[in-house]
Amino acid sequence: MLADIVVGVQHGDEAKGKVTHYLCRTHDYTHVLRFNGGCNAGHTIYHEGKKFVTHHIPAGVFYGVKSIIGSGCVLNVEQFFKELQELEDGGIDTKNKIFVAENAHVITEEHIQEENSEKKIGTTKRGNGPAYRDKYSRRGVQAKEVPALKPFLINLYDEFFNNSDVKILCEGAQGFGLDIDWGDYPYVTSSHCTSSGALLNGIPPQWVNQVWGVGKIYETYVGSKSFEPEDEIFEEIRDVGEEYGATTGRPRQCNWLNMDELIKALKVNGVNRLVLNKLDVLEKVGKWLLINEGTELTFNTEKDMTDFITSSLSCLPQLKEIYFSSSKDKI
Ligand code: IMP
Ligand code: MG
Repeated sequence: MLADIVVGVQHGDEAKGKVTHYLCRTHDYTHVLRFNGGCNAGHTIYHEGKKFVTHHIPAGVFYGVKSIIGSGCVLNVEQFFKELQELEDGGIDTKNKIFVAENAHVITEEHIQEENSEKKIGTTKRGNGPAYRDKYSRRGVQAKEVPALKPFLINLYDEFFNNSDVKILCEGAQGFGLDIDWGDYPYVTSSHCTSSGALLNGIPPQWVNQVWGVGKIYETYVGSKSFEPEDEIFEEIRDVGEEYGATTGRPRQCNWLNMDELIKALKVNGVNRLVLNKLDVLEKVGKWLLINEGTELTFNTEKDMTDFITSSLSCLPQLKEIYFSSSKDKI
């Protein structure tokens, strides 16, 4: 019995989809489990030359692995069926591969309506917050109450404890900076984006093997708070990095990598494998900066910056490996 976990260590959009895709390709997982969030998330996945954008359905389906939308998720039923269709149309076999935890909660039309004019947080307007609110106020609707979902329902306890040799890849949505408890409240999402969020889906801590943290060599954030310093360089980073939302198309605010926040995220999540993506973007822009102990540091080369990151993170004994990755790399 084993579980690996993939989490975002910044504010979402760290290219977690790429890492889960890589892990599915190179490991023999029996299940992939999306453990938090709803269709506020957007995974962009390139599979066999085709581009897929999924919001609910985990990456495992591309490799024929059983893919589960877990109890920590909220589900828009219409969107779920739309994604199923899009995957089938793209040549992906989804039959008997995609499941929904019977105790996952459902996003209703009223939840979406309610967020129509939301401005304070700058949500994705997908009804996420109201659905979680209704879950916790005990008037929500669980997946098992929706007739159309019947063929897809799964009981996580039966699935994980009545089968032998279960190997689960737990795929998180959003990231540490958007976590309901650890993010910059109230500019957060309404779910648990840390590795502990995975455990809430019926995973005992003893099963956890690797915790993969995924970030970028710079940072982005989407929402109402001001995040991007006034400097044209960030417009360049946004253009070169194609930093526009997969779900809403909104421009993402950009900033330099914040080492202090990164270290916090790695500690709280217990990350032991870190992937920092999109090195090619700073290379194209020709500037290497980060924020360390509240101060901006400038480097002459990519190597100077990555060496600095590696040595700063050597204070974390559980962190075994750091992968620096470019957009086109497989990891
Ligand atoms: P909500 O999750 O739609 O309620 O939005 C709350 C905050 O999280 C907003 O700032 C959103 O832009 C942000 N957010 C939610 N999902 C994602 C995501 O997948 N990537 C990036 N930001 C997200
Ligand atoms: Mg995303």
